Amino acid sequence: MVWWKDVNCYQIWPASFKDSNGDGIGDIGGIITKLDYLKDLGIDVIWLSPMFDSPQDDMGYDISDYEKVYPKYGTLEDMDQLIEGCHSRGMKLILDLVVNHTSSEHQWFKESRSSLDNPKRDWYIWKKPKYDSQGNRQPPNNWKSYFTGSAWKYDEATDEYYLRLYAESQPDLNWENEDCRNAIYDSALKFWYERGIDGFRIDTARLYSKVQTFPDAPIKFPNDEFQPCDMYTSNGPRIHEFHKEMYSKVTSHYDAMTVGEVGNCSREDALKYVSAREKEMNMLFLFDVVFLGTVRTSRFRLLDFTLVDFKSAIKSQCDFIKGTDAWSTVFIENHDQARCISRFAGNNEKSAKMIALLQMTLTGTLFIYQGQEIGMTNLPRSWGIEEYKDIETLNAYNDLVKRNNITDKNDPKLVEFMDAAAKVARDHARSPVQWNSTKHGGFTTGDPWMRVNDNYSDINVENQIDDPHSVLSFYKKILALRKTYKDLFIHGDFEMVDEDNEKTFTFWKKTNDLKALVILNFSNDVVQFEPPQGELLLSNFEIDKALSPWEGRVYIVK
Ligand code: GLC
Ligand code: CA
Repeated sequence: MVWWKDVNCYQIWPASFKDSNGDGIGDIGGIITKLDYLKDLGIDVIWLSPMFDSPQDDMGYDISDYEKVYPKYGTLEDMDQLIEGCHSRGMKLILDLVVNHTSSEHQWFKESRSSLDNPKRDWYIWKKPKYDSQGNRQPPNNWKSYFTGSAWKYDEATDEYYLRLYAESQPDLNWENEDCRNAIYDSALKFWYERGIDGFRIDTARLYSKVQTFPDAPIKFPNDEFQPCDMYTSNGPRIHEFHKEMYSKVTSHYDAMTVGEVGNCSREDALKYVSAREKEMNMLFLFDVVFLGTVRTSRFRLLDFTLVDFKSAIKSQCDFIKGTDAWSTVFIENHDQARCISRFAGNNEKSAKMIALLQMTLTGTLFIYQGQEIGMTNLPRSWGIEEYKDIETLNAYNDLVKRNNITDKNDPKLVEFMDAAAKVARDHARSPVQWNSTKHGGFTTGDPWMRVNDNYSDINVENQIDDPHSVLSFYKKILALRKTYKDLFIHGDFEMVDEDNEKTFTFWKKTNDLKALVILNFSNDVVQFEPPQGELLLSNFEIDKALSPWEGRVYIVK
């Protein structure tokens, strides 16, 4: 039996976890001081978001040197201590593998951009300009960057454009080039495996293979100059060949855990990445749930969604491995998503526990995100754009202002944008962890790089740690119960009961000899229901006959 199916994982966003030296930025030293806290919570694996050297244009997802640590986070020696600190407590550590792109400050890119015949020219994706009928220089095609604008950036030095699906300073690596691939394997993977890490979360794992003819994308948003290009960049022609090579050349030599950020794809495509016999990666993150209510290629365009949509997204995430040799994950928050209780539930303590109950019972390896265990919420709607720090949010805001010549903060278009940002911006996940009720929530003794959520004196670890009724104590319980009943919860089959019910989410988890009935009230109303003949395993409320708002129960039925 492999070790990575039954583990509880916890994601750390280093800038915002814990500052140990008062400079306002979280760091590795801070993480080390909280390892006992995580162990005690019931965590087995830590996934650490990028701590590599980086100009931080995309919070470390723009790496300038895979083999160095961002100095404000610490040193290689600190990383050795962190690895040792995890291992000595029986925990494992996985890092982020960001190899679709580097920072433009990476030595490889500096060489690549220096001349047309540099040996590393072909390590990135360069194309000649196009010219329109008036003779104006244009990008090679109409692809849109995830961070707004053209996906191509003009580089004067050689009069060509380079591809950058994310920030201008995140040029895409050219995976078609074998030398480039081997350099990635050595520098980004082997270097860290040899230092003792236990695996990787694979960033943007679906994007390495682009359709090599680079055609224009179809017009999806007629008013926009640039168009989503996923069909030419996602799950591309050689993507599985690349993952198989990475596995056979590197990963297979270590007892590693790998989880790919695959995001959007069909069940058939998803299985190709994670079916055991394909030997690519162990499990993946799909975005069916977290991108509910937004246009996937354009985060700030909101869509309506109902509980029925939420339920069917959960179902498809749980079900896709049924009857296969594949494996999957359970998660509802990460550094790219708003806080789950604000997005999908009642934004209160009871909702936090109800979501915990849901997570306890779903099929796959569980990941929780820092702060989720104390019920951290979205940032207040009253905060202005100056409190937002994420490049995705800021680029979208500035683009809106520029395109519409907006000069007034109360312009309805801007208000609408800020309404959307208050719901879905990545910033909500990135505010500092609330440790206690002292200034800045005990995250730092200095000035935090990002403002701490105003509710820190209410919602924080210190308040909750010794309170048996707190969200934190509830998370401890569910993390333990998930293991006690691992055949049922982690591995069992999911079967929905009330598909069309707009208020409650009821489903079975089943093994051959055990069943659990999970009943969750996703509404502000009291709901009548008939309890099953069975033993109540856990609930987030004192039991009454009816289900109170945001109440959840799990029954074990023999
Ligand atoms: C992934 C990361 C996200 C980052 C992007 C570019 O989606 O999760 O935070 O901005 O890749 O590296
Ligand atoms: Ca610090």
